[in-house]
Amino acid sequence: MSKRKHRRRRAAQAHRHLLYQASVQSPESDIEFFDRVYRDHRGRRPRALREDFCGTALLSREWVTSGKRRTALAIDLDERTLEWGRRHNLGTASMAKRVRLVQADVREVRRPRVDLVCAMNFSFCVLKQRPELLAYFEAVHAGLRDDGMLVLELYGGTEAIVPIEEQRHVDDFVYIWEQESFDPITHETRCHIHFEFEDGSRLDRAFTYDWRLWTIPELRDVLTEVGFADVEVYWEQVDDDGDGTGEYQRTESEENQEGWLVYVVALR
Ligand SMILES: C[S@@+](CC[C@H](N)C(=O)[O-])C[C@H]1O[C@@H](n2cnc3c(N)ncnc32)[C@H](O)[C@@H]1O
Repeated sequence: MSKRKHRRRRAAQAHRHLLYQASVQSPESDIEFFDRVYRDHRGRRPRALREDFCGTALLSREWVTSGKRRTALAIDLDERTLEWGRRHNLGTASMAKRVRLVQADVREVRRPRVDLVCAMNFSFCVLKQRPELLAYFEAVHAGLRDDGMLVLELYGGTEAIVPIEEQRHVDDFVYIWEQESFDPITHETRCHIHFEFEDGSRLDRAFTYDWRLWTIPELRDVLTEVGFADVEVYWEQVDDDGDGTGEYQRTESEENQEGWLVYVVALR
């Protein structure tokens, strides 16, 4: 077989959702964080999760696996992605019963009310205009139980607003994050995820994002405006090399970094 044919095959065999799940998502640590913060504030374990912008609903699967009485409502606009998740992540009958997949715009869903809503991996940044973000947060506020909580994940920092390409080795492939552009007037940014394999073949632009990079104070203002009682920021801690440790601490003020990750927690 020629080298060229072999190259085509390796990238062609890989599935972009599997690669994404392995390189981007870490549902166990998200759930650990949700449990800790929810217990700190509410003194109990949350049971009903709503995963907005759920994609393949991997987090919802881990959620129901983490507690017998836990349920998840997983919402995404894209039927094909939901179908992939249904087949690959929610294969068993009991899993399918406890995770309800809903094809909808997250701004349209207000029932059933849940303990916890999450929007991970910056997905809410697809809502670029303030009225759109406000409509989303209003829907979340209405869809939360009285002691409910919303968790948003956001990134930023001095290197978040420049064209850049970062690589990370994961299993037997390389995950590549490309920031193609950033507009300082609108804060719109266009980013891509590429995957590269040991045989040199690539899956270029496996995912493309067209976002507005919201700032923490903007989120805080809109969340407060729709009625959330308090908004907290949990900052990812870094080691001596400046790499994220996966540990998050509540903070009121920070020095800027090249890159940072936060959970913004809004308490109903
Ligand atoms: C970055 S992926 C998020 C995947 C996963 N939640 C994660 O944490 O990695 C964004 C998803 O949001 C969905 N999406 C975009 N706009 C939406 C909307 N208004 N309502 C519901 N889903 C939406 C897309 O179909 C896509 O699957």
